[in-house]
Amino acid sequence: FGGGILAGVSVLISAGPTREPIDPVRYISNRSSGKMGYAIAEAAARAGAKVSLVTGPTALKTPPVNEVTWVESSEEMYRCVMSKVPFADIYIGAAAVADYAPETIADRKIKKNQSEMVLRLRKTQDILSAVSASPKRPFTVGFAAETDNLEDYAREKLATKALDMVAANWVGRDKGGFENDDNALFVCWNGGDTYLPLASKKTIAEQLIRLIAERYHAQNSA
Ligand code: PMT
Repeated sequence: FGGGILAGVSVLISAGPTREPIDPVRYISNRSSGKMGYAIAEAAARAGAKVSLVTGPTALKTPPVNEVTWVESSEEMYRCVMSKVPFADIYIGAAAVADYAPETIADRKIKKNQSEMVLRLRKTQDILSAVSASPKRPFTVGFAAETDNLEDYAREKLATKALDMVAANWVGRDKGGFENDDNALFVCWNGGDTYLPLASKKTIAEQLIRLIAERYHAQNSA
């Protein structure tokens, strides 16, 4: 696959969920198996790229790419990704980063002696926006996971987060999205869009890498 379409290109990919601790035994998280992000990392490596994968906790085998860094919280993912951005030509944010995290983390297990419990959450840092706003900005690809208005939200993310490309998937349906082996994507960029119909995440990842390589090379030769 790929014929070296990303030979010599450094690709940084985030994958999997983040875990936001409540106390030493509990956390809140998002649904994500890591399958989509890992498939993209492997497809990029097969296309000749130098791949660095930053992954939240998953049950998957470590993929055969140049570098894999395991993180847990969105804060850790943020710091790890930002430390690698200066060395990346392309960033692909496939991770399901928690949007909110507990404001305080209890240092001991919270006892269940109350009938109700209130958790105060604070917004986490938006890694994708920070990458896109960084000084040596890589070609930046965001994901959008939506239960409705997929195309509108994808185009809105492209504009508001100043991205080069958005790959949007339906989530919470029987087929595609998180945890499944298959996915379908609506992909948009400034000046175009396309659908990648339901197929294995391996196939979808290869199609996405082709699109990214095309747009990346078009931008760099302009
Ligand atoms: O892992 P799988 O089981 O294979 O499932 C794949 C997937 C459905 C998780 C994946 O294809 C996907 O859609 N990933 C993004 C999920 C998500 O968090 O979407 P979002 O619409 O909430 O976020 C939009 C983008 O902002 C994403 O690129 C996300 O990485 C990024 N983000 C979000 C919040 C935050 N604090 N920082 C971010 O960088």
